[in-house]
Amino acid sequence: MKKAKDMKGTRVSADAADMALDLDGVSKSYRDGDDVVHALLRTDVKIPRGEFVAVVGPSGSGKSTFLTIAGGLRTPDTGAVRVGGVLMSGLSRRARGSLRLHHIGFVLQGANLVPFLTVRQQFALFDRACGRRRGTREDRVRVDSILDEFGVGAVADSYPESLSGGERQRVAIAKALYGDPDVVLADEPTASLDSERAYGVVDVLARQAHGGGRAVVMVTHDTRLIDRCDRVLSMRDGRLSDMSMG
Ligand SMILES: Nc1ncnc2c1ncn2[C@@H]1O[C@H](COP(=O)(O)OP(=O)(O)O)[C@@H](O)[C@H]1O
Ligand SMILES: [Mg+2]
Repeated sequence: MKKAKDMKGTRVSADAADMALDLDGVSKSYRDGDDVVHALLRTDVKIPRGEFVAVVGPSGSGKSTFLTIAGGLRTPDTGAVRVGGVLMSGLSRRARGSLRLHHIGFVLQGANLVPFLTVRQQFALFDRACGRRRGTREDRVRVDSILDEFGVGAVADSYPESLSGGERQRVAIAKALYGDPDVVLADEPTASLDSERAYGVVDVLARQAHGGGRAVVMVTHDTRLIDRCDRVLSMRDGRLSDMSMG
């Protein structure tokens, strides 16, 4: 099993590092004029490496709030979030950015691709963010091999607008995985796809989790897809419950 990558100044026990994602007493409210929306009520969840988890629930139930807090894009009001055993709130802004870059992969709704960059150039963005010299032969080989793995090698030099929905989503997933993250967080990754392509995308995500090194958390409306998952969490009015445990 893969161990957590070194984080500067951060020590993590081996047990904690086996947990890709660990939320402990996490809650979040939003202020909406005079109202307060309790989007996420005290939530505890542990997701080990190797697990493929679905989060289902109606629109407005708090699924995206959960996912963005798990990925460090939003800060919770209470509680602790650990990724690969590393406590997010204990980090400086800079270290948190680095944790997101190296340990978390996001697949956002509608594929988060930059419209004016070719598929290959999307990956160079990551190399640049990591401060690596770009365009080396090694980078090219790595990008080609990940694109081939997802069946999108033929569109490496195309722009997002010329890809099909399924291709775009597979490129987005490849991009999320390029940094070899501990956890992949996907928000409705199959929303715009027909059944066959949706299953294709879900199978790719399942394989990524079942390789053992990382966890994959997928928010979905589509209950047809959840038989591919190891565990289903249900979100209702900000309350997350484990459906497999009743
Ligand atoms: N930035 C925000 N400001 C105010 N309310 C928000 C904000 N984001 C989400 N909400 C509210 O929080 C609740 C949960 O939203 P969200 O997490 O997006 O749910 P879901 O992804 O399940 O549709 C909803 O009532 C939504 O209106
Ligand atoms: Mg949402």
